[in-house]
Formats: sequence, structure tokens, C-alpha cells
Amino acid sequence: MGLNRFSLPVAAAIMMINASLLVQGCLEEERTALLQIKTSIFDPNHTGSPLLSWGNDALCCGWPRVSCDNITGRVNEIVLFNVIDPSTGALSRDASMGDWYLNATLFLPFQELNTLDLGFNYMAGCVANEGFERLSRLNKLESLGLRLNNLDNSILSSLKGLSSLKHLHLDDNRLNGSIDTKDFDSLSELEELDLRANEIQNFVTSTGFERPGSLDKLEILYLASNRINDSSLSFLKGLSSLKQLYLHDNQLKGPMDMKDFDSLSKLEELTLGGNEIQNFVTSTGFERPGSLDKLEILYLSSNRINDSSLSFLEGLSSLKQLYLDNNQLKGPMDMKG
Ligand SMILES: *[C@@H]1O[C@H](CO)[C@@H](O)[C@H](O)[C@H]1NC(C)=O
Ligand SMILES: *[C@@H]1O[C@H](CO)[C@@H](O)[C@H](O)[C@H]1NC(C)=O
Ligand SMILES: *[C@@H]1O[C@H](CO)[C@@H](O)[C@H](O)[C@H]1NC(C)=O
Ligand SMILES: *[C@@H]1O[C@H](CO)[C@@H](O)[C@H](O)[C@H]1NC(C)=O
Ligand SMILES: *[C@@H]1O[C@H](CO)[C@@H](O)[C@H](O)[C@H]1NC(C)=O
Ligand SMILES: *[C@@H]1O[C@H](CO)[C@@H](O)[C@H](O)[C@H]1NC(C)=O
Repeated sequence: MGLNRFSLPVAAAIMMINASLLVQGCLEEERTALLQIKTSIFDPNHTGSPLLSWGNDALCCGWPRVSCDNITGRVNEIVLFNVIDPSTGALSRDASMGDWYLNATLFLPFQELNTLDLGFNYMAGCVANEGFERLSRLNKLESLGLRLNNLDNSILSSLKGLSSLKHLHLDDNRLNGSIDTKDFDSLSELEELDLRANEIQNFVTSTGFERPGSLDKLEILYLASNRINDSSLSFLKGLSSLKQLYLHDNQLKGPMDMKDFDSLSKLEELTLGGNEIQNFVTSTGFERPGSLDKLEILYLSSNRINDSSLSFLEGLSSLKQLYLDNNQLKGPMDMKG
């Protein structure tokens, strides 16, 4: 008993010393690379920048926005969200800043990098031949944050080699028109893809997601607030692991053919609000086994649904929440569905 009383604090003290030693670890090569990044993107006029103090000491694992693995001591997280101009605040994008291009090769030395966040930096793309394809050797990179930049469709082909990615955030950029699904082909580990708030109209499916290995593990797909107007949604076919699909605030019109949701047997949440959907074609509908069997939440608010029979709901045996407000439903509702 007496021994325990002392051994606990002693053990705690040893752990703390241990932890602080590990925190101090910083590979020379990585420290140099971080300072190159600072030189490359730091504007000395922005005195509020988190990068300001980088290099004041040699212990790079303790620098703002940098984290290291506590065993290997190597940099595993670099969060450069909104470092270009922190004074603008999180909601405004200052057009006068002008576009700039990243040299992604600057991140190549971080062989253990797991998370890289470059969001909200007015970035229009990468320097020629120094794009994200250069980072394909970083096989621990699981999370790439590029939201709130000025990236156009050309960024997609440069992401192909990042085959270890699980989370990719491209929301609030300038992706537009047709997106070729083959740009996502090699991202076979991807679990979450965020393409919200762009100007995407459709996905070219000729070589689509249906091919094995292509987005096989995708569980969450954000496509809300785009300009998707092709109600066939045939690009959804291969996404057999999908659990959450966000398609609200697009331009889906008229009747939707429910067979496009057929292979989504794991889908739990589907948002289709804020479109111009009139009804769902049920001939090949949700009633077929396997189709949306697990769907629990369905948002259909703010559409033009006027068919009070709601017979399309019949197959949705797991449904727990249904949102139908702000539609054109009239008269008696048939609730036997
Ligand atoms: C910093 O501000 C000064 C004065 O406004 C300006 O002349 C200079 O170009 C700025 N430097 C950078 C790197 O933007
Ligand atoms: C080391 O990191 C792991 C994962 O990030 C964490 O769970 C663990 O608590 C950390 N250990 C110490 C001693 O900080
Ligand atoms: C990009 O960064 C790498 C690594 O620091 C450097 O070797 C290369 O010259 C840079 N490219 C350009 C175009 O600045
Ligand atoms: C997409 O954006 C590019 C410029 O970023 C523009 O040239 C092109 O016309 C746009 N396409 C569509 C379909 O809006
Ligand atoms: C979608 O919108 C584009 C551009 O406005 C148009 O060219 C195309 O025909 C529309 N497609 C459908 C299916 O309505
Ligand atoms: C729903 O609206 C469409 C298009 O305006 C119309 O053709 C159809 O008859 C309406 N259906 C019902 C049940 O009111």
C-alpha cells in the first residue's frame, strides 16, 4: 500500500518527462522543409499569421499548426488553414488578394504526414509540374483539406496518385461543369468526399464509378449546393458503400427514376431538399429488395412534389425521419405507404 502511494506520482512524472522529450523531437530535414514553406507562403505584413513564430526555436514539433507523431517524432499534421491572410476573418474572401499557385513539392519531405490542411488560402492551383501528384509517395496521407480556395477542375487529375487518402475536402471552390469520374479512380481508400458549394453540373459516367476499385469505400459524399440538373444520377451506381449522400440545393427537376439509387443498399441518409423534384418513378422503385433498405433519414423539403399518394415510400422499411415540408402536396394524404 505504502509503495503504491509513491509509485503513481513517480510513474506520472516519468511519463511527463518522456512525453516532453518526444514533443521536442524534430528532424533537421523536416525543420528545414517547414522553414521553406514559411518562406514560400508567409507574408511578413500579416503579423497575425500563425507562421510568424516558426523558426524562433528549433523544436518544430511545438510550432503552431504542426504536430508530430509522439513515437517517431516525425511531422504527421500540418494545418495551414487560413494562413495567407488571417485578418480577413473566416467568412470573407478578399478578391483583391489575387490568385496564387502552390508548390506542393514543399511537402514531400514529410514522409509520415497524415493530415494536410491548406483550406481558405485563395489558392488557384499548383505551380506547373509541382502539383499534388508529387506527393504520391506520402503513403500515410489520409486527409487533405483544400476547401475555400479558388481551385478549378484541373486540380482533380493532380490528386489521382494520392491513393492512401480517406478524407478529401474540395468544398467551396470553382469546380464546374462536367466532372470526369475517372479522376477519382485511384482513390480506392476514400471514405469522405466533400464537393459542396461548387458549380458542378454533372459527372461523366462512361468510365464511371462502376468500375471496381473506384470509390468502393466511399461512405460520405457531399454534393449539395452545386448545379446538378441531370436527374438520372447514374453516376451513383458503383458507390456501394455509401451511407450519407447530400444532394440538396441543386437543380434536379421533374420525375426522378428511383433505380438510380438501386445499388445504394447501405445508404442511411439522403438529402434532396431544395431541388425541383416532382415525383419519383416507382415502376422499378424502392420496393425492390436491397434498394435503400437501410435508409433512415430522407429530406425532400422544398421541392415540387404534388403526388399525395407518396407511394414511392413503400419500400423504405427502415425510414425514421421524413421531411416533406414546403412541397405542393394537397388534399387527403394516403398514409398507408
Ligand atoms: C507590405 O506592405 C507594404 C506597405 O503597404 C508594401 O509596400 C509591401 O509590398 C508589402 N509586402 C508584401 C510582401 O506584401
Ligand atoms: C500518442 O499519440 C496517440 C495517437 O495520437 C495518443 O492516443 C496517445 O495518447 C499519445 N501518447 C502520448 C504519451 O502523448
Ligand atoms: C518547389 O519546391 C521544391 C522543393 O523545395 C524546389 O526544389 C523547386 O525548385 C520548387 N519549384 C518551383 C517552381 O519553385
Ligand atoms: C468553368 O470554369 C472555367 C474557368 O475556371 C471556364 O473557362 C469555363 O467556361 C467554365 N465552364 C462552365 C461549364 O461553366
Ligand atoms: C443542365 O444545364 C446545362 C447548362 O445550363 C444545360 O446545357 C443542360 O441541357 C441541362 N441538362 C438537363 C438534363 O437539364
Ligand atoms: C403535378 O404537377 C404536374 C406538373 O405541373 C402535373 O402534370 C400533374 O398532373 C400534377 N399531379 C397531381 C397529382 O396534381
